[in-house]
Amino acid sequence: MPANVGLSALGLIRSISGHDVGTEELAHLEIVGSIVSQLTSGEGAKSFDRYGAGDYYVDHANAVYPQSAAGAPFTAAYLQSKGDPIADLVEDLAAEQKARATYDNILRLSDDPDVNSVIKFLRAREVVHFQRFGEAMLAKLRGFLRNLKGIWHLSLQFYFPKIKKS
Ligand SMILES: [Fe+2]
Repeated sequence: MPANVGLSALGLIRSISGHDVGTEELAHLEIVGSIVSQLTSGEGAKSFDRYGAGDYYVDHANAVYPQSAAGAPFTAAYLQSKGDPIADLVEDLAAEQKARATYDNILRLSDDPDVNSVIKFLRAREVVHFQRFGEAMLAKLRGFLRNLKGIWHLSLQFYFPKIKKS
Protein backbone atom coordinates (compact mmCIF):
# COMPACT_ATOMS: atom_id res chain seq x y z
CA MET A 1 0.00 0.00 0.00
CA PRO A 2 1.45 3.37 -0.90
CA ALA A 3 2.00 5.45 2.24
CA ASN A 4 -0.73 8.00 1.64
CA VAL A 5 -3.36 5.92 -0.08
CA GLY A 6 -5.79 3.28 1.02
CA LEU A 7 -5.51 4.13 4.67
CA SER A 8 -9.17 4.79 5.21
CA ALA A 9 -9.70 1.06 5.40
CA LEU A 10 -6.85 0.93 7.85
CA GLY A 11 -8.57 3.46 10.07
CA LEU A 12 -11.81 1.58 10.00
CA ILE A 13 -10.24 -1.77 10.98
CA ARG A 14 -13.36 -3.72 10.36
CA SER A 15 -14.06 -7.28 9.51
CA ILE A 16 -15.86 -7.86 6.24
CA SER A 17 -16.80 -11.36 5.21
CA GLY A 18 -14.67 -12.73 8.05
CA HIS A 19 -11.57 -11.01 6.73
CA ASP A 20 -9.85 -8.15 8.51
CA VAL A 21 -9.03 -5.59 5.82
CA GLY A 22 -7.18 -3.32 8.25
CA THR A 23 -4.76 -6.09 9.23
CA GLU A 24 -4.11 -6.84 5.57
CA GLU A 25 -3.45 -3.16 4.84
CA LEU A 26 -0.78 -3.14 7.56
CA ALA A 27 0.77 -6.19 5.91
CA HIS A 28 0.78 -4.27 2.60
CA LEU A 29 2.68 -1.48 4.29
CA GLU A 30 5.23 -4.01 5.52
CA ILE A 31 5.52 -5.55 2.03
CA VAL A 32 6.09 -2.16 0.36
CA GLY A 33 8.60 -1.24 3.07
CA SER A 34 10.46 -4.50 2.42
CA ILE A 35 10.59 -3.75 -1.32
CA VAL A 36 12.03 -0.30 -0.64
CA SER A 37 14.50 -1.73 1.86
CA GLN A 38 15.69 -4.42 -0.57
CA LEU A 39 15.97 -1.96 -3.46
CA THR A 40 18.00 0.53 -1.45
CA SER A 41 20.08 -1.83 0.66
CA GLY A 42 23.75 -1.09 0.06
CA GLU A 43 22.99 1.95 -2.10
CA GLY A 44 24.97 5.06 -1.25
CA ALA A 45 24.07 8.74 -1.28
CA LYS A 46 25.09 9.22 -4.93
CA SER A 47 22.77 6.46 -6.04
CA PHE A 48 19.82 8.07 -4.23
CA ASP A 49 20.70 11.43 -5.77
CA ARG A 50 20.96 9.96 -9.28
CA TYR A 51 17.34 8.73 -8.98
CA GLY A 52 16.06 12.06 -7.64
CA ALA A 53 15.86 10.87 -4.04
CA GLY A 54 18.81 12.82 -2.65
CA ASP A 55 16.55 14.78 -0.29
CA TYR A 56 15.19 11.51 1.07
CA TYR A 57 18.73 10.26 1.67
CA VAL A 58 19.68 13.43 3.57
CA ASP A 59 16.75 12.94 5.96
CA HIS A 60 16.60 9.14 6.26
CA ALA A 61 19.64 7.55 4.56
CA ASN A 62 18.70 3.90 3.85
CA ALA A 63 15.98 3.74 6.49
CA VAL A 64 12.41 3.06 5.40
CA TYR A 65 10.32 6.12 6.22
CA PRO A 66 6.60 6.04 5.40
CA GLN A 67 5.76 8.92 3.07
CA SER A 68 3.98 9.56 -0.19
CA ALA A 69 5.80 9.50 -3.50
CA ALA A 70 5.80 13.31 -3.33
CA GLY A 71 7.50 13.23 0.09
CA ALA A 72 4.54 13.98 2.38
CA PRO A 73 5.15 11.95 5.55
CA PHE A 74 2.49 9.56 6.78
CA THR A 75 0.40 10.93 9.62
CA ALA A 76 -2.71 9.78 11.46
CA ALA A 77 -4.51 12.55 9.55
CA TYR A 78 -4.71 10.09 6.63
CA LEU A 79 -6.95 7.81 8.67
CA GLN A 80 -10.53 8.63 7.93
CA SER A 81 -13.40 7.50 10.13
CA LYS A 82 -16.62 9.37 10.70
CA GLY A 83 -18.56 6.84 12.73
CA ASP A 84 -21.28 6.84 10.09
CA PRO A 85 -21.39 3.56 8.16
CA ILE A 86 -22.36 5.09 4.80
CA ALA A 87 -19.77 7.90 5.04
CA ASP A 88 -17.05 5.45 6.15
CA LEU A 89 -17.86 2.93 3.44
CA VAL A 90 -17.81 5.59 0.71
CA GLU A 91 -14.43 6.72 2.06
CA ASP A 92 -13.16 3.13 2.04
CA LEU A 93 -14.39 2.52 -1.50
CA ALA A 94 -12.57 5.65 -2.68
CA ALA A 95 -9.42 4.72 -0.75
CA GLU A 96 -9.28 1.27 -2.34
CA GLN A 97 -9.61 2.76 -5.81
CA LYS A 98 -6.94 5.37 -5.07
CA ALA A 99 -4.62 2.58 -3.90
CA ARG A 100 -5.39 0.58 -7.06
CA ALA A 101 -4.73 3.63 -9.26
CA THR A 102 -1.43 4.30 -7.45
CA TYR A 103 -0.34 0.70 -8.08
CA ASP A 104 -1.30 1.17 -11.76
CA ASN A 105 0.95 4.25 -11.85
CA ILE A 106 3.81 2.33 -10.22
CA LEU A 107 3.43 -0.44 -12.80
CA ARG A 108 3.73 2.15 -15.60
CA LEU A 109 6.97 3.42 -14.07
CA SER A 110 8.63 0.19 -12.96
CA ASP A 111 10.45 -2.21 -15.25
CA ASP A 112 11.57 -4.52 -12.44
CA PRO A 113 9.72 -7.84 -12.87
CA ASP A 114 10.17 -8.85 -9.23
CA VAL A 115 8.77 -5.55 -7.97
CA ASN A 116 5.96 -5.65 -10.52
CA SER A 117 4.80 -9.12 -9.52
CA VAL A 118 4.42 -7.96 -5.91
CA ILE A 119 2.70 -4.73 -6.97
CA LYS A 120 0.27 -6.71 -9.16
CA PHE A 121 -0.56 -8.92 -6.16
CA LEU A 122 -1.17 -5.86 -3.96
CA ARG A 123 -3.26 -4.25 -6.71
CA ALA A 124 -5.43 -7.37 -6.94
CA ARG A 125 -6.00 -7.28 -3.19
CA GLU A 126 -7.18 -3.65 -3.38
CA VAL A 127 -9.72 -4.71 -5.99
CA VAL A 128 -10.96 -7.46 -3.64
CA HIS A 129 -11.17 -4.95 -0.78
CA PHE A 130 -13.20 -2.64 -3.01
CA GLN A 131 -15.57 -5.49 -3.79
CA ARG A 132 -15.99 -6.42 -0.11
CA PHE A 133 -16.66 -2.81 0.88
CA GLY A 134 -19.09 -2.60 -2.05
CA GLU A 135 -20.97 -5.63 -0.73
CA ALA A 136 -21.12 -4.02 2.72
CA MET A 137 -22.41 -0.81 1.14
CA LEU A 138 -25.11 -2.68 -0.76
CA ALA A 139 -26.22 -4.48 2.41
CA LYS A 140 -26.39 -1.14 4.22
CA LEU A 141 -28.36 0.46 1.39
CA ARG A 142 -30.79 -2.48 1.28
CA GLY A 143 -31.49 -1.93 4.99
CA PHE A 144 -31.95 1.78 4.34
CA LEU A 145 -34.40 1.08 1.51
CA ARG A 146 -36.34 -1.40 3.69
CA ASN A 147 -36.69 1.29 6.36
CA LEU A 148 -37.68 3.81 3.72
CA LYS A 149 -40.36 1.41 2.47
CA GLY A 150 -41.64 1.06 6.05
CA ILE A 151 -41.72 4.84 6.50
CA TRP A 152 -43.46 5.18 3.14
CA HIS A 153 -46.19 2.75 4.23
CA LEU A 154 -46.59 4.57 7.56
CA SER A 155 -46.98 7.85 5.68
CA LEU A 156 -49.53 6.33 3.32
CA GLN A 157 -51.49 4.92 6.25
CA PHE A 158 -51.41 8.29 7.97
CA TYR A 159 -52.66 10.24 4.96
CA PHE A 160 -54.79 7.46 3.44
CA PRO A 161 -55.87 5.28 6.40
CA LYS A 162 -58.06 3.08 4.19
CA ILE A 163 -55.01 1.82 2.21
CA LYS A 164 -53.84 -1.55 3.54
CA LYS A 165 -50.16 -2.40 3.83
CA SER A 166 -49.26 -5.00 1.20
FE1 LIG B 1 -7.07 -2.19 0.40
